[in-house]
Amino acid sequence: MESPFKEDALKGKVALLTGGGSGIGFEIALQLGNHGASVAIMGRRKNVLDSAVASLHYHGIPCIGLEGDVRKKEDAVRVVESTAKHFGRLDILVNAAAGNFLVAAEDLSPNGFRTVMEIDSVGTFTMCHEALKYLKKGGLGKEPSCGGTIINISATLHYTASWYQIHVSAAKAAVDSITRSLALEWGTDYDITVNGIAPGPIKDTAGLSKLKPEEISSTFEKMPLYKLGDKWDIAMAAIYLASDSGKHVNGMTLLVDGGQWLSSPRHMPNEVVKQQARAVERQSRNSAVGIPNSKM
Ligand code: COA
Repeated sequence: MESPFKEDALKGKVALLTGGGSGIGFEIALQLGNHGASVAIMGRRKNVLDSAVASLHYHGIPCIGLEGDVRKKEDAVRVVESTAKHFGRLDILVNAAAGNFLVAAEDLSPNGFRTVMEIDSVGTFTMCHEALKYLKKGGLGKEPSCGGTIINISATLHYTASWYQIHVSAAKAAVDSITRSLALEWGTDYDITVNGIAPGPIKDTAGLSKLKPEEISSTFEKMPLYKLGDKWDIAMAAIYLASDSGKHVNGMTLLVDGGQWLSSPRHMPNEVVKQQARAVERQSRNSAVGIPNSKM
């Protein structure tokens, strides 16, 4: 698919992506690179990182892979420092690393709950915290008046409640809160924009493949647009937020789910509504002025 953004929309910028070796994180890395950014990707699995780096190089994107776990502060420090040292600056941080598995709340151990909180929520904060000195206005390689951008990948699970996802829902609710708090504090103090993207179900991702096939099909049926999203849809949202196009957006988590989270079963066919609504309204008005229902 062709990007609606200019090829050089991110020229000269340097991006660091956690979870950048696969799935949505990799697609964002690829598209940031296709729009002129140099890219560092962080992940736990060397083989995944190696093949992602090879693929980005194949597309002509300046890129390095850095092994690390966002749960470990020392890894966060090392990866941020290495990125800034290698490219001479850091402009964009994308927190895409996430943990997910389906489990009923009664079967989830506190350590299982904590594990996802530590990856998604604490990991996001840790990376932001360590990247601040480079992202802020006047940071290495930056103008004194111009700060960088943070994009936190969230979800829609916690907007209502989601079966078998108590850990991820809680973790992403915290991520959205982190997004707003940092947008307030760091937008004010350091000219950094902090936003999120909340994808719905996206094709060819670990998040989707970890769901059971029956759940995929029922989710699919409930979606107003009747289709799963593409990783590209999420990446384009990231380009918007990271480029000048989105420079006045701050503290926002952009929903990219085709309206799926709004979906609820249709409790009455449209035809029934058409036939009955006016009659019901007449009945209600007539009752209000004391006209017997039989006159309807
Ligand atoms: N059901 C219930 N509990 C589970 C579980 C499952 N499917 N998978 C892991 N856990 C629990 C473990 O039992 C353990 O708790 P315990 O010590 O009380 O037994 C805890 O979670 C940590 O598991 P562990 O396997 O040691 O963690 P890990 O660090 O190796 O892996 C995960 C982290 C579990 C989040 C793993 O799924 C992961 O690495 N995911 C990354 C990729 C991913 O999920 N991407 C999708 C993004 S949407």
